[in-house]
Amino acid sequence: MLARIGMERIVIIGAGQAGCQAVASLRAAGFAGAITLVGDEPFQPYQRPPLSKAYLMGAMERERLFLKPDAFYAEARCEMATGIAATAIDRAARTVALADGRKLVYDKLLLATGSRVRKIKVPGADLPGIFYLRGIADVDALRPALAAAKHLAVVGGGYIGLEVAAVARKLGHRVTVIETLDRVMARAVSKPMSDFYERVHREAGVEFAMNTAVEGFEGRGKLEAVRAGGVSVAADVALIGIGVIPNCELAQAAGLACNDGIQVDKHCATADAAIFAAGDCTRHHGRAGDLIRLESVQNAIDQAKHAALAMAGQPAPYSEVPWFWSDQYDLKLQIAGLAKPGDTLVQRGDPATRKFAVFHLREGRIAAVEAVNAAPEYLMGRKLIADAAAVAPERLADISIPMKSIV
Ligand code: APR
Repeated sequence: MLARIGMERIVIIGAGQAGCQAVASLRAAGFAGAITLVGDEPFQPYQRPPLSKAYLMGAMERERLFLKPDAFYAEARCEMATGIAATAIDRAARTVALADGRKLVYDKLLLATGSRVRKIKVPGADLPGIFYLRGIADVDALRPALAAAKHLAVVGGGYIGLEVAAVARKLGHRVTVIETLDRVMARAVSKPMSDFYERVHREAGVEFAMNTAVEGFEGRGKLEAVRAGGVSVAADVALIGIGVIPNCELAQAAGLACNDGIQVDKHCATADAAIFAAGDCTRHHGRAGDLIRLESVQNAIDQAKHAALAMAGQPAPYSEVPWFWSDQYDLKLQIAGLAKPGDTLVQRGDPATRKFAVFHLREGRIAAVEAVNAAPEYLMGRKLIADAAAVAPERLADISIPMKSIV
C-alpha cells in the first residue's frame, strides 16, 4: 500500500539538462518537499553540446561534462535514480513505475524525457562501424573507432554531422558528408549561411554528396562502404546524424496529448494538473503563438525553470527568445529567434572575413539573427528580437554603425 501522507513529492523523469535545472529551480523557489530524479542513462546529468566537439576530440575529460558536482544533489536532498528507466505513469494512482520494479509516488510529475536519435532504416544499418551521437556512451564508442578509421562517412549535414566532420578533419581523416537536401543545416539556418558552411567544410577538405539518399551500408562483418545516389562510397566508419525524435511514449501511453512533442501550455503544464513537461520532449506555443518544438539547451533550461515555478505554486509564463549555437573549426555560430520562410534577409559583414551575420526581418522587425564569430550582432540581435524593435535594413547592413547604435 502506497501511503500519501506527509510532505509533497515531486518526481522528475529524465536526468538531462532540463531535469537537473528543475531540481535547482525547485529548491531556489523554496520547494521543501521530496524530489526524485529518474534517468535511464548510468550517469548523473551532463552537458551534451561538448560531446560532438571537445569530448569527441579527446580534449575534454568526462568529469567536466557533468552539470553539477555530487554535493549539489546531496545538498538539494534530491534522490537520484540513474541507470533506471521509468516504464509507466499511472495518473489515477499518481505513481511512476520503474524498470527495477519500484513504484514512485508523486504529487507532481515533471517529464523531462528529451529526445533520441532518429535511426536510419536501410539495409546494413546494423553493421559494426555505424554510429550515432547523442550520449556519453555513443562518443566513448565512436572515439576509438574514429581513431582507427581511414574514411568517415557522415550521413546528415546537420549540426551533429558537420560538427563531427570538423573534428574528423582536424584529426586528419577523409570525410564524406551525405545529405538528402540541397543544402546543409537547412532545418536550422538560412541559405546564405548554409552556403557559407558548405564552402568552409569543402575548403577544409570535406567531400559532399548533396541531394543524395543513402540506399544501404555494405561490408562483410563490418562497414566497408555506403551506397548512396547509386554509387558506393568507401568508408570504414559512418556517423549518422539525421535528426532527433522527442521521447513522448510515456506521456502518450498515459493518455496525455502528444503531437511530435508533449503538449504543454505557457507554464509547461499538461492537461493533467499534476503533470508538467520541459525541454526537447515538449510542443509548446512560441512567442509568435504558433506551436513549436525546440531542440536546445536554452529551451531545456528555461522551460525547466518555468515548470519548477509552476510546480512550486509560483507560475510565471514562458516566453523566452530561443537561441542556439554550433562550433565548427574556428567558427562560433550563434542563432537567436526563429526564422520563417518569407523573412527579408539582411547580411552584415563579409563572409570571407569569417565574421558576419544574417538578420531575418519580418514586418520591419528583427525576427532572427545568425551570427558567425560576431558576438555583438548576436547579443544585440537577441535583445532587439526580445524588444520587437523596428530597424532600418540599410543601417543593419552598414558595419560602420556599431550594433548598439543601430536603433
Ligand atoms: N540521409 C541523409 N541526410 C538526411 C537523412 C538521410 N536519410 N535524413 C535527414 N537528413 C539530414 C537533414 O536534411 C538534416 O540536414 O540530416 C540533417 C539532420 O540535421 P539536424 O536536424 O540538425 O539533426 P542532427 O544533426 O542529428 O542534430 C540533432 O542534436 O545538436 C543537437 O539539438 C541539436 O537538434 C540537434 C540535434
